[in-house]
Amino acid sequence: MSKMDAERLDKEKLLKYFTVEEKLRMLSGDGMWHTFGAADLPRVRMADGPTGLRPCEDGMPAPPCTCYPVAGMLANSWDTALLYNVGAEIGREATAIGVNLLLAPGINIKRNPFGGRNFEYYSEDPLLSGVLGKAFVNGVQSTGVGATLKHFAANNCETNRMYSDSIIDERTLREIYLKPFEIAVTAKPAAIMCAYNKVNGEYACENAKLLRNVLRDEWNYDGVTVSDWGAVHNRVKSLNAGLDLEMPDSLGLHTARLKAAYDSGELTDEILNQAVSRILELVDNVYLEPCGDNDAEEHDRVSYNAAVESVTLLKNDSGLLPLTKDMRVAVVGDIATDYPIQGGGSSHVTALKAPSPLDAFSARGIEVSYFKGFGNDPKQASSLKDEALSGAVGCDAVIVYAGGETSTEGCDRTSLSLPDSQNELITALTLAGHRVIVMLCVPGPCEMPWAKRVRAIVYNGLCGQNSALAGVDVLYGRVNPRGKLAETFPVRAEDAPSQPPKGDVAAYTECGLVGYRYYDTSCKRALFPFGHGLSFSNISYDNMRVKRLPGNNFEVDVTLGNNSVRDAYEIVQVYVSNRTGRIFCPEKQLAGFAKVLVEGESSTVAVINIGADAFKFFDTQTKSYRTCDGEFAIMAAASSTDVRKQITVKIDGDYKSTQAVPDCYSAFRPDVITVADFENFTGVTVPQESKRQKPFTLENCVADLKKTLVGKIVSRVIKNRAKAAGAVGSPEYNAFYANAMTTPLSSSSIMSEGALPPGVATGIVHFANKKFIKGVKSCLSRGKEVFAAPPEKED
Ligand code: BGC
Repeated sequence: MSKMDAERLDKEKLLKYFTVEEKLRMLSGDGMWHTFGAADLPRVRMADGPTGLRPCEDGMPAPPCTCYPVAGMLANSWDTALLYNVGAEIGREATAIGVNLLLAPGINIKRNPFGGRNFEYYSEDPLLSGVLGKAFVNGVQSTGVGATLKHFAANNCETNRMYSDSIIDERTLREIYLKPFEIAVTAKPAAIMCAYNKVNGEYACENAKLLRNVLRDEWNYDGVTVSDWGAVHNRVKSLNAGLDLEMPDSLGLHTARLKAAYDSGELTDEILNQAVSRILELVDNVYLEPCGDNDAEEHDRVSYNAAVESVTLLKNDSGLLPLTKDMRVAVVGDIATDYPIQGGGSSHVTALKAPSPLDAFSARGIEVSYFKGFGNDPKQASSLKDEALSGAVGCDAVIVYAGGETSTEGCDRTSLSLPDSQNELITALTLAGHRVIVMLCVPGPCEMPWAKRVRAIVYNGLCGQNSALAGVDVLYGRVNPRGKLAETFPVRAEDAPSQPPKGDVAAYTECGLVGYRYYDTSCKRALFPFGHGLSFSNISYDNMRVKRLPGNNFEVDVTLGNNSVRDAYEIVQVYVSNRTGRIFCPEKQLAGFAKVLVEGESSTVAVINIGADAFKFFDTQTKSYRTCDGEFAIMAAASSTDVRKQITVKIDGDYKSTQAVPDCYSAFRPDVITVADFENFTGVTVPQESKRQKPFTLENCVADLKKTLVGKIVSRVIKNRAKAAGAVGSPEYNAFYANAMTTPLSSSSIMSEGALPPGVATGIVHFANKKFIKGVKSCLSRGKEVFAAPPEKED
């Protein structure tokens, strides 16, 4: 972002030079991946995303690029320098091929483990999400490429994602769901992408409270706001609310509506010029011709390092790991030959390579015997199992690669369990007395009914193109593992603090009790807690000291000892716990962290600074952050449940009253809290599910039309198309089907790249409203490329 003044666009002059039509046209993209280049203006090229580059061109598949660990795994590194490096490496790959704006990072909170896009997000904790997101933005932007924070805001589920309404009380919204954005926005990302969903009744893209009051007025953000793809419903309202750029091009639909609003005075020159000048600023800041080398080897090295920092050792009984090359080892699992390395949807990278675990063993010169163990065909289940059980006889260890079904944008996970065949085989191996190591290749938490029986568990996750290699390097001790979980693994799915919504209203009745805040406060045991992760060295915590700095800031020192011979990295976490109890708050909250190298047989002092924000809460009366007066414990911890040292301090705060908290909330049982409890406690009204009935418009989706003949026909077409995406029931099939059924027809057409021409989308609406002649005319004669006179309301 360092152009010479002489090279910069003269925005004032351009604003005068462009016609109103040109300005209106600039407010939406040119095709799927570019801004509109009015009057020879360069077009900014965009590409996803969080896992590496997906540089699509209109109608073309994305060419191969480096695939990094998914954000959900990267977060286990708790390593801001690493996130910076990954961002910078993706930025360099982008500059080499002429991508100017990266559609990443995603920094939404993992509200529960079911979120279909959780793998694209960092954590259940706002501080960790915000700090890592900020580092990634800084890395990307150090290369001149712009970064895009997404999805603003409260985009925490995929079920009915295009119109789900996230109902959240103001305090929770601020402290949990907006906090990562508030932190990351300080890195001045070139763009912020507005989410598909509604927040408290208003679409995120039309939400003036979020886009103007919070983002611009409070946080002073001056970059571009861009819609998620196809997320715009009412373009005039969204522009007036503060959405600068609509992506992709709305095929004329919204430009026509904007023109009408301009002519009627509903849209002013001031608003129009504001948005256009921000888009010009974006062009100025990020547009570059392709330049620099595309050093695939260097990208690969960074991707390997990132994978190594992300893999997390969850269990290691009697020090079975690391293994040694002379051990007899059996490897079991169908995915050991074909390894999932990432999630599905817009973040999916056409990876340059994806070596399997078996490839990785042989690359490291390790001999293992391999047994498939399980697979998709139930008829083979018992013979595969028997083969693995007898093959394991006489082995020093059996490594089971479990998991495999990845998660995908467009639908939430419906279960956290592994396939029965996998659970059964793991249990059978332990019952036969084998020393079992489970390598988990899952997109997030899963249930592990055999957790107590196996000797070791490694969360290998979706770690990109070096996923398998990093896992093998942990198994054999080439790497001393150092990742720690950025999200809680519950014992059972039903233990989660919330579940995905069923309809189009997602009431966040658990308030701020998200992730470890919930498990901790309600004393619910987690299978593996937030912040947990082992190394091959035992790290001790001693001599904690807390130094008070001016203005409720503190420096926390703790001495870490490593009596093993190996160098180790320890992620020290500092939590703060409000002991005075004036307000409803979780047992403890993360306030700072540091990843520290502790050399073998030595000790070192970790220094963590925690800011005054750690003692604040959002007071909805005064609409500001305030500090609770009273005592707080400052804790140095190895995980959210493994507090090693603590010191209590007195904080002089400006909030001295005591909030009344109803019993159901003070008992911290989100599972028993009703919508009425939530409404009474927070003053928020939870709306009824909407009926989404006749007269239909382009805002309706195919699911809304399911009782009409045309709806039934289109649903069948969608089912058939979904089969081309994947086998019935597979994540790919489910994602295609869910997306196509629940996306408004206008957005489906805009994003279909010609598969659903605007005229046909319009015709479907007419048919559903029983306007058959209009329907036939629309389908046959009009709107092949642009929407013409689309039906907003039929008479
Ligand atoms: C996703 C965004 C993505 C965009 C472009 C949308 O469906 O929600 O995260 O950046 O597509 O691919």
